Amino acid sequence: MESSSGSVLWFTGLSGSGKTTTAVQVYRRLQEAGRPAELLDGDAVRTTLGRGLGFSREDRLENIRRIAFVANLLSKHGITVLVSAITPYREMRDYLREHVSGYTEIYVNCSLEQCEARDVKGLYAKARRQEIPLFTGISDVYEEPEQADIVIDTQHHPVEANAQRILEWLCSNRYKE
Ligand code: PPS
Ligand code: MG
Repeated sequence: MESSSGSVLWFTGLSGSGKTTTAVQVYRRLQEAGRPAELLDGDAVRTTLGRGLGFSREDRLENIRRIAFVANLLSKHGITVLVSAITPYREMRDYLREHVSGYTEIYVNCSLEQCEARDVKGLYAKARRQEIPLFTGISDVYEEPEQADIVIDTQHHPVEANAQRILEWLCSNRYKE
């Protein structure tokens, strides 16, 4: 593992749980505080860095490995990296814990029922109609994190409060100087 002054905040959770929303809120707050930060969103980078990858176990692992590679490059320069990607398998998160410098796991906890009720992109409805194969939570597994550094509950707490908790955690555990 390389030495680094940066942190990689890795938001894991179901589709529609609030990973992107929370990461963007933390990112804005870091920018306001003059902290260098960068966002890597799984959904967004799939059109570039992860182009051609699907949602099989192998492809998801490859997607996560590629994001981890870029996250390490950035964090090496003291940048706080915010990654939002489902990262559904324990095996992936074990890999990240071992290979990503400053890895901080944030479990964005929201029940499947609530994510499906929100269905912001209409993907759950499609998955239920079997129009999307291997959809996380419906036809593919989401293995709940057991070693998260921070757990946020987007079902019962607003985005601002969750972002605030993450920032406080960072101040106490990472930005100590
Ligand atoms: S992974 O498992 O970490 O590699 O996934 P990720 O790169 O975060 O991509 C998840 C986004 O892709 C859309 N999408 C799907 N998600 C899950 N399963 C299937 N089969 C699928 N197909 C498309 C969806 O918009 C996810 O975005 P988020 O932001 O999680 O809702
Ligand atoms: Mg998202």
